Amino acid sequence: MKLLYPLLLSTIITITTADRRCRGVNFNGKYYDIDMIKEGINKIHQMALNRNDNTVYFTYDQLSEIPMRSLGYVKLDTREAGLIGGIRNASGVAIDHVRNKVYVGGQDGLFVLNKDGAPEKYPVYDSIEKLFFKDVLFFVNSKGEAHVFDNGILNPVIELHNEKVDDLIIDDDDNLFFLQNGTLFRVKIGTRAINIHERYKVNVITVDPYYRAFIVTTEGVFVYNKYKFALDKVSNIRDLRALSFNKNLEPVYVVVDVMIKLSLNPLKCVEFY
Ligand SMILES: *[C@@H]1O[C@H](CO)[C@@H](O)[C@H](O)[C@H]1NC(C)=O
Ligand SMILES: *[C@@H]1O[C@H](CO)[C@@H](O)[C@H](O)[C@H]1NC(C)=O
Repeated sequence: MKLLYPLLLSTIITITTADRRCRGVNFNGKYYDIDMIKEGINKIHQMALNRNDNTVYFTYDQLSEIPMRSLGYVKLDTREAGLIGGIRNASGVAIDHVRNKVYVGGQDGLFVLNKDGAPEKYPVYDSIEKLFFKDVLFFVNSKGEAHVFDNGILNPVIELHNEKVDDLIIDDDDNLFFLQNGTLFRVKIGTRAINIHERYKVNVITVDPYYRAFIVTTEGVFVYNKYKFALDKVSNIRDLRALSFNKNLEPVYVVVDVMIKLSLNPLKCVEFY
């Protein structure tokens, strides 16, 4: 698809570098081509890319009379897209890449997609908003409480006791990041000291395949630097509503209601520092 919205175009212009030899979108020091994957994803809520088969799962608002969130998918290799029914107000989505399982959370609890792509229910009866997977499954319910679901056993996330959270991720160094109304906080697993990163207004938190923490803000995309305890800017692309990575670390994101994949072009220049 070659069509570019004016809004997207302005985003692209602001991220084009001053170096005329380099073209495309700069992300983490590399230049990428823009590939439009899908339009019309209204108010995306959460997105996860299954790197085993290159399928992106996302939850978003259906434009219908009764407000309803639905689970959609798009296969990046073929662009085949569709909806998966059977989960009322599907909201959270996360992937266990080792066991190749797609977890989905909705108003009636937790589900896993079976071999035919149909949802099967787990005995978790809570209204799930967000999911995150790292070794075990974490979820945030509609009251903002964080839980961990491990081997059929449900427990609160003790580090987040008495904290009302909107979303959470855990990085490769056991740092738990969470959001409260657009503000980022960090706590080391097993401790209780909560740090605030108050400088940026945060839209999305996510991890790459190596569980590095990516922080999507209104001022660009940052990665957490565990040696400096600070955020390092990796891209000027801003106001993303979702961000994931494929196994080659190519970003897939949603801006406004359009899903975009950045494709590395090896013939493009590489920036020297
Ligand atoms: C989905 O959630 C919204 C907001 O909580 C609610 O108004 C709506 O009735 C729900 N839809 C269904 C199908 O239950
Ligand atoms: C959340 O943040 C917005 C501005 O970023 C503010 O207008 C709103 O009052 C905040 N809500 C709460 C519950 O703190």
